Amino acid sequence: MQCFSKRMMAAVTTRRTFSSSLFASHKQNAKKQLQGTGTVPQKAGLANPQQVYLDWNARKTSVYNNFWLRDHCHCPQCYHPVTRQRLVDTFSIPRDIQPVALDSTEDALDVTWPDGHQSRYRWDWLHTHSYSPILRTDEPLQTKRPVLWDVNLNIPALQHEEVMETTQGLKAWLDQLETYGISFIEGVPKTVEATEALARRLCFLRETHYSQGIWSFTADLAHADTAYTQLALGAHTDNTYFTEPAGLQMFHKLEFEGQGGDSLFVDGFHVAKELKRLHPTAYRTLANTRVPTHSAGDEHVLIVPTPRAHPILNHDDTSGELYQIRYNNDDRSTLDHLSTAQLDEFYDALFLWHKLLTSAKNEVWDTLNPGRVVTFDNWRVLHGRSAFTGHRRICGAYFPWDDYKSRARTLKMTPQDKDRLL
Ligand code: OGA
Ligand code: ZN
Ligand code: ZN
Repeated sequence: MQCFSKRMMAAVTTRRTFSSSLFASHKQNAKKQLQGTGTVPQKAGLANPQQVYLDWNARKTSVYNNFWLRDHCHCPQCYHPVTRQRLVDTFSIPRDIQPVALDSTEDALDVTWPDGHQSRYRWDWLHTHSYSPILRTDEPLQTKRPVLWDVNLNIPALQHEEVMETTQGLKAWLDQLETYGISFIEGVPKTVEATEALARRLCFLRETHYSQGIWSFTADLAHADTAYTQLALGAHTDNTYFTEPAGLQMFHKLEFEGQGGDSLFVDGFHVAKELKRLHPTAYRTLANTRVPTHSAGDEHVLIVPTPRAHPILNHDDTSGELYQIRYNNDDRSTLDHLSTAQLDEFYDALFLWHKLLTSAKNEVWDTLNPGRVVTFDNWRVLHGRSAFTGHRRICGAYFPWDDYKSRARTLKMTPQDKDRLL
């Protein structure tokens, strides 16, 4: 940390010295709560003319730029308390703004600016958003960490009535989806209407060129896609040809008289982890090679994503974490943008990926009898089916990713969580 000048020292009045004793008079509960999260600093002040520092403890210090602090003021004049949108005029803040006073309260840092404006920054907010250094260990808005699975996936099926009638049932559904990327619900009436009501209990549906909301199909080629045949479908994710593939999907096999037609599910995050462990070069290739895709069977349909091609393994630019599998080998367009060497590398990596993806120890097969509905994360879990004979009617839905996630977050978060996390 740089020393700040004597002149700065004089200009700033730090009205209280920070120490753990400052908090001694708090209600025992509040104290425990704040200290339990490790978000109460022991000391704060000016680090230098540009920055404020907070010593969280003897070894952990955060610094915040003065301009950043003023620009992130969450007082009602600067941040609408209801809409949670910024009102502050960033461009009228002097780039070299400096606080004229810093004051500590039991749960926040109060800053006075040269024009008399007062800002209050809660300790827990400052800790969550510490950027120098970054102190958070998780994506702050993530509500559940994924638990990876293989053939031994063992999660309890939820009951239709519980999911439809109780908030607890709905939360359990969202929890399973966020944790395992898949969830089964039993006791669902075997109709399109009941399936649609169940789907809409989760969040609103995504329309596509296949349907407006809920869809149901048999092997009659009503749409020009292999799904509408009796052929087997290898493990894939849907909508690789959309700029944003559906976040979730639901399937309900309403009618079946015949042989085969079982459903296949594979945890793509688990397979990717295995690939990274066993074949790191192949993993990098699938993370870096962009694969073009299309949907062009139906007349008047020619869908390709923007950008034109995406990797199979997609990573968050900020965290570096894998967030989306985008893989349907049947929907791949002609590979004409790779060099000979890149093509070799890509095909080699694809073979290794395919081998793990089709390994029996990674596959979960389910007969998905009528009444048993599956919902799954189409950015994580790959699905497929075995070939079949006879009559089979499947109904289902696509859900938009953002709205499903928003629903999951808002069901679990309080307004105070929003204050802290945004
Ligand atoms: C699909 C699909 C599976 C099935 O429509 O994309 O994968 O069981 N269908 O018919
Ligand atoms: Zn303000
Ligand atoms: Zn599919």
